Amino acid sequence: MEIRFPERTTRVEIRSGGIRRGRWFSPDEGTASLFVFDSNTSGLAGALPPASIVLPSGEREKTLRNVESILAGALERGLSRDGRIVGVGGGVVCDMAALAASLYMRGCGLVLVPTTLLAMVDAAIGGKTGVDFGGYKNIVGPFYPADEVRIDTDFLSTLPDAAYRSGLAEVIKHALLGDAELYRLLREGRAGILARDNGLLPRMVARAIAGKKGYVERDLREQGVRAHLNLGHTFAHALETVTGYRGSHGDAVGWGIGRAMAYGERAGLTEPGYACEVRDLLLSYGFQLERPGVDSGRLADAMTRDKKKRGGAVRLVLQRTLGDTELQDADPRLLAEILA
Ligand SMILES: NC(=O)c1ccc[n+]([C@@H]2O[C@H](COP(=O)([O-])OP(=O)(O)OC[C@H]3O[C@@H](n4cnc5c(N)ncnc54)[C@H](O)[C@@H]3O)[C@@H](O)[C@H]2O)c1
Repeated sequence: MEIRFPERTTRVEIRSGGIRRGRWFSPDEGTASLFVFDSNTSGLAGALPPASIVLPSGEREKTLRNVESILAGALERGLSRDGRIVGVGGGVVCDMAALAASLYMRGCGLVLVPTTLLAMVDAAIGGKTGVDFGGYKNIVGPFYPADEVRIDTDFLSTLPDAAYRSGLAEVIKHALLGDAELYRLLREGRAGILARDNGLLPRMVARAIAGKKGYVERDLREQGVRAHLNLGHTFAHALETVTGYRGSHGDAVGWGIGRAMAYGERAGLTEPGYACEVRDLLLSYGFQLERPGVDSGRLADAMTRDKKKRGGAVRLVLQRTLGDTELQDADPRLLAEILA
């Protein structure tokens, strides 16, 4: 699959089996590339390529200091502008490797090898780079799409359940945004998907990426339709803010999609049968939809402070039904009811 951006095309390859046996880490590639792992992903792909750096893992490590380590590694190993930085890891490694590649010699080659489901269907696709800074998530970083994204669903076998579910929230979101076949696969193939059956995963990942491709090709810089990808996220970010980012992002997104359905239903927009079906789907994948044990007033406050608010109003991504999505300014009274 190819994703075409104004200045660059990303080639996406999806398979199952291969990378973990080190097939894509040939010595030739090693000399022209600097590989970036974190402490969990460095053991996943056989022996480390000769030019590798291993960063500490976790969101708290998504810092300019670690990007600086990548840049220092590139310089030390004499990487040229034609060389490539290869990020092998979850969204944290992919975002930092991409930021480093955007900076090194005013932009060098970038290959991403996402190893979490979230990174496969989301972080590695679409050109957003970033680190957390000054207490804000992803506040520093340009758009810099990868030259190649190499996906091997084999990596998912070692992923903790919570991290896997986190990625599934994004897959479900992509289905709702307009992929009836992915929606059917999620409903009918649930047992296999939850068991991480490699017979199903490449198809599921490919469909989710195709969904994101449709948005980012039209709107790389999120000036319009790309905002639909925030379905469930305005609610999710508020929950994450109020709980201090405890719990997984995907669980917050799953809950947030449930809230967006409830809001849409109360606003007379979302078809009740569809909202009900979506809630059943989320529950069947283990997402909790009931009110979390946090104060609803604080949730509403956090939503009004959300960066997606425009002209004082909270902007919600809502749906009539599958594939029929629109942005609406939230009615504060209705919002309070939905969060109560
Ligand atoms: N650029 C974008 O468009 C975009 C989109 C969505 C999310 N993100 C970013 O992605 C990050 C979250 O990504 P994530 O959930 O992948 O987090 P992560 O990168 O922190 O990975 C989660 C954990 O799983 C470990 N891990 C990775 N692959 C593994 C594997 N195959 N087996 C076992 N353990 C493995 C990691 O070391 C880490 O401890 C956030 O920083 C978020 O801002 C970016």
